[in-house]
Amino acid sequence: MKKLFFKSLLLAVIVYASGFIALDKTTISRTFELAGQQYSQLLNIATDMKKYPRTADPNGKTSYAGIEDWTGGFWPGCLWRVYEYSKDEKWKAAAIKWTESLEKNQYNTAHHDIGFMMYCSYGNAYRITGNPAYKDILIQSAKSLITRFNPKVGAIKSWEVFHSWDGKHTYNYPVIIDNMMNLELLFFASKASGDSRYRDVAIKHAETTLKNHYRPDFSSYHVICYDPETGKVLSKETAQGFSDNSAWARGQAWGLYGYTMVYRETRDKKFLKAALKMADFYINNKNLPSDHIPYWDFNVDQQGYKPNWNYNPKRFENPPRDASAAAITSSALIELSTYTSGDTRKRLFDMAESILSSLSTKAYQAEPGTNGLFLLKHSVGSIPHNGEIDVPLVYADYYFLEALLRYQQLKNNPDKPLFP
Ligand code: GLY
Repeated sequence: MKKLFFKSLLLAVIVYASGFIALDKTTISRTFELAGQQYSQLLNIATDMKKYPRTADPNGKTSYAGIEDWTGGFWPGCLWRVYEYSKDEKWKAAAIKWTESLEKNQYNTAHHDIGFMMYCSYGNAYRITGNPAYKDILIQSAKSLITRFNPKVGAIKSWEVFHSWDGKHTYNYPVIIDNMMNLELLFFASKASGDSRYRDVAIKHAETTLKNHYRPDFSSYHVICYDPETGKVLSKETAQGFSDNSAWARGQAWGLYGYTMVYRETRDKKFLKAALKMADFYINNKNLPSDHIPYWDFNVDQQGYKPNWNYNPKRFENPPRDASAAAITSSALIELSTYTSGDTRKRLFDMAESILSSLSTKAYQAEPGTNGLFLLKHSVGSIPHNGEIDVPLVYADYYFLEALLRYQQLKNNPDKPLFP
């Protein structure tokens, strides 16, 4: 008996010293409790419905973005996630209020981000409430998004313009890897409207992106610039990554999540194969730290990777991590694992579990009342633009909460599909 006690004590000490946290019901409920505490305070101070919580300033105070910013849908999305977990009507009321504040974005054709803005807000709202008005708003949003599709290119234009970091080139048909995330809105719109046009655009975009954005090792370029007249690729560069040929961690995550979702919607094996290769790139990467939270780019400071932006190699002792990339990756890996079996399924799920365990430690989770009232610390917006470095980001919280809900659902019901 005594021996067993000391053995358990030793194990507890080792586990504590390694910072590992078992991802059990208690850990998950503690995280949602913290989300409840942080977001309750945030709801109290975020009273201007035109300002969407996004990150924290250097003093740890919440900072906000306007309705035209790509991140507006994540705040209502976080509120929907907390409602899904807690079933407390207070969160539903807040989520509805913030979701509906985004209504006019259904006509936004200025950039590709309408998928993020509307599907993370209205998409969750419709899934949870079934309100038919939300369905119509989502279909109109998809209509707006496909105005940016050019059949010559076979892809949706992300931004109006892209200026190369070398200062010598400007392009007017840039497509970024992040755009894969906007396709979920299009698949939804086809199912909801019976009009296959949205789905056709989504599939074509996914095929074009797979052809032009990915390298043989399934790392991704961030920005591909096309000639809109001929569809020819003019240039392959980065906006937010370390160098044009590097693997920007969040870009890798967007791609992995995007292709997993496109496989869910199409059941086309070429997308599954691609997503599995992207997962391998992450899991087997020799530059992935032992807690499985990536540096902001997989190739920072490596030989053969040369930034064109104003990079100061002495600025950081260690490259900053990007918890947002880890959160997105973990959510994608959980879904991807369900499309596989045996060792592969275990490998993908174990990696997701390990990422979520790390994100559940004090190293990444905020003390109540700090961190701009967000949950996760240590994300990166864009180092080349010198913005949002080692900060909380609302989308890190959003995908973390999503991943925990997916994890819990799968643990409770391993045979029930996440997306029936
Ligand atoms: N879509 C912008 C980003 O991931 O930072």
